[in-house]
Amino acid sequence: MITPILLCGGSGTRLWPLSRKSFPKQFTDLVGDESLFEASARRFSGVGFAEPVVITGNDFRFIVTEQLERVGIPPAGILIEPEGRNTAPAAAAAALFAARSDPSALILLVPSDHAVPDPGAFRAAVEAGRGAAENGQIVTFGIAPTRAETGYGWLEAGEETAPGVHRLTKFIEKPDAARAEILFADANNLWNAGVFLASAQTIIAAFRDHAPAILDAVQAALDAGTVDLGFTRLDEDLWAKVPEDSIDYAVMERAGNVSVVRFEGHWSDLGGWESVWLESPRDENGNASTDHATAFDCENTLLRSESDEIELVGIGLKNTVAIAMRDAVMVADMSEAQNVKKAVSVLRDRG
Ligand code: GDD
Ligand code: MG
Repeated sequence: MITPILLCGGSGTRLWPLSRKSFPKQFTDLVGDESLFEASARRFSGVGFAEPVVITGNDFRFIVTEQLERVGIPPAGILIEPEGRNTAPAAAAAALFAARSDPSALILLVPSDHAVPDPGAFRAAVEAGRGAAENGQIVTFGIAPTRAETGYGWLEAGEETAPGVHRLTKFIEKPDAARAEILFADANNLWNAGVFLASAQTIIAAFRDHAPAILDAVQAALDAGTVDLGFTRLDEDLWAKVPEDSIDYAVMERAGNVSVVRFEGHWSDLGGWESVWLESPRDENGNASTDHATAFDCENTLLRSESDEIELVGIGLKNTVAIAMRDAVMVADMSEAQNVKKAVSVLRDRG
């Protein structure tokens, strides 16, 4: 059995104003009629999967329980971080938590904000990596790249060690533009899907080797933690001392025992409005509109009204995103929509 570890602490500011600090994108129905978190929980459930462990922030604990109930997946545990310290501490805490019941148990670290239209295909890729994970490897999942993306990690696949499984020769987290171009030119290089399969003890050992300060600080915060209403709370004071880092930089770039399974199916990390537009059903002119949003004589637009009380109408627009919430409206050129992150930080500074 594989225990999914659902990571859902990110705030997703690139999808403002839909994604909010108090209600981040993974809990919204961004594409389709269930939330990304619900879809992630369902993607890795059923035959071969144990109940998931969720690690999230205090503000989201009831959203998590409510959404898991909606998809009928009871959690094995919900870990509460007093504050987000990025994915390395979250992954270490979840691995230590899972190891309490069985150190050799396989865990699958899962982001909660991706779109994978064919979950069965992804489960098959996980199954392909199971043997390597049982043999002490950390298995990553590689997506065939379509551009020189700087926002992802890149995986260099080496020799095949088992059917569909390759030794990872290099892990390059978020390269600069020049390096991304070079990586994109070589077909052995894949995007990191951000999903990792390994035994709990393999993950813990990797932290011990490459990020011992994080592991020790997380262990202390977990040991001093409390349990209430089924939530396992990491100790606030000790958690504040945990160094902040992503698992990609802290562990994956450094570890030697990493393998990669190619995932051939469709995958998107919905990192910004342009990718939401690409993942949404569009009319023949490339317009994606929600209920209460209408595109007249438009081309390649994403028009979303998130309120029954707001009619959003676009006329003669091209390559434009417009998101109307009850309390905020964002309009951007599609190619500039990534900059919403910058706009949000300016708004925050202003208070
Ligand atoms: N619990 C918890 N606590 N979860 C977190 C935290 C945290 O502090 N920070 C992020 N997460 C969750 C996010 O909600 C998301 O589901 C997942 O962990 C990954 O974090 P991101 O912040 O979205 O990472 P990224 O997109 O920059 O990069 C990662 O994913 C890419 C693919 O989408 C890396 O693994 C890249 O290498 C990879 O290409
Ligand atoms: Mg991400």
